[in-house]
Amino acid sequence: MTHVFHRHTHTLPPVAVRGDGVEIIDSTGKRYLDASGGAAVSCLGHSHPKVIQAIKDQVDQLAFAHTAFFTSRPAEQLADHLVAHAPDGLEAVYFVSGGSEAVEASLKLARQYFVEKGETQRRHFIARWQSYHGNTLGALSVGGNRWRREPFAPMLIEAHHISPCFAYRFRRDDESEEEYGRRVADELEEKIEELGPETVAAFIAEPVVGATAGAVTAVPGYFRRIREICDRHGVLLILDEVMCGMGRTGSLFACEQEGIVPDLVCIAKGLGAGYQPIGAVMVAQHIYEAIRGGSGLFQHGHTYLGHPIACAASLAVQQAIQEEGLLARVLEIGDVLNDALLDRFGNHRHVGDVRGRGLFRGIELVADRSTKQPFDPALKLHARIKAEAMERGLICYPGGGTIDGKLGDHILLAPPFIVEKQHIDTIVDRLGGAIDAALQSVQVR
Ligand SMILES: Cc1ncc(COP(=O)(O)O)c(C=O)c1O
Repeated sequence: MTHVFHRHTHTLPPVAVRGDGVEIIDSTGKRYLDASGGAAVSCLGHSHPKVIQAIKDQVDQLAFAHTAFFTSRPAEQLADHLVAHAPDGLEAVYFVSGGSEAVEASLKLARQYFVEKGETQRRHFIARWQSYHGNTLGALSVGGNRWRREPFAPMLIEAHHISPCFAYRFRRDDESEEEYGRRVADELEEKIEELGPETVAAFIAEPVVGATAGAVTAVPGYFRRIREICDRHGVLLILDEVMCGMGRTGSLFACEQEGIVPDLVCIAKGLGAGYQPIGAVMVAQHIYEAIRGGSGLFQHGHTYLGHPIACAASLAVQQAIQEEGLLARVLEIGDVLNDALLDRFGNHRHVGDVRGRGLFRGIELVADRSTKQPFDPALKLHARIKAEAMERGLICYPGGGTIDGKLGDHILLAPPFIVEKQHIDTIVDRLGGAIDAALQSVQVR
């Protein structure tokens, strides 16, 4: 009998005891190829020597110093490194311990920015359906995943949602990609006007949608239009790059590939690559200056923010990404992964779409390719695929509710940046086996 309150109380997961490159080894000696980095976390695999050494060195020096009293060298160095490698204009880093905390901090910071400027009526947040921004109450409120929100709806703060940019599902046949992008981006302007532009604080979106929809990229031009609309109405743009950032799509920040710079960007997961829990909000100069030139104090804070060991680990991770040329590698091996997925699943009768960017790839499953009809959600196909994959020694990240929070199944892949061609062959092979076995178990071939 376990005393751990596990994520699911009906099943006991295997005991992970060791990490070895792209694999995790359990207490029975079974090896699992980590094709999703857990949930797009472990971008350097599970045993990077320099990161491990950096953690040991930091513990020997200083384990913890509360940020109400001290700063630390690792925090200062990591912030310098991030600012040096971020798009121009992002100038200050507020450290936290994970993705949800980063989103919470970004929402409060956006609000306080307007309070400092005397625009106290700006209180509304707009987000998109089919997004995930975390499980704390503020992050869940802006999140657009219906099943995650439902039980907690009475507790959520007011937030407003517009359509996602999800061309495979929602582009009309009579629209070009550009027209579609413009139509859904313009929903933001309509919503701002409906609420009253002087009352809207910020719009938040994932540049590439991760957990809820499976590596959905926006159509070209969508985010430039979003940036224009925000600028026109003085609304802040918060990008949630918790999952898609830190090199996952082949650039350190996913927004670099959209040609825009946000006012605030949330990062986590790949920031510490799982070696330590860490997240951050990076902010544009004008946000920082509004606080510095106003009250001086961002009215927030957690005990563990800027934790020296987490910052030391993260700095080593970020240095490894640069020194080992991993951003270029993500693009290169990401193409290899995409080709392998298309080879194996491009003509699969129950795969409707293979999508994504870099080492962030998604597969959407359908009952019928021509009508894109999803499977009956009661079959829980995504959960069956996860179990079949684990059986075969493969970690992937399947999800349900892809289309609207209820319907649809997808699989998210986000392997470590050190993945090799032979691992990709194994991933595709085991995944194919898992999908086919899951389909068979629901009597679909
Ligand atoms: C886009 C995005 N934002 C926020 C979060 C929440 O991060 P965390 O689980 O570290 O709190 C996640 C987690 O999956 C995420 O994918």
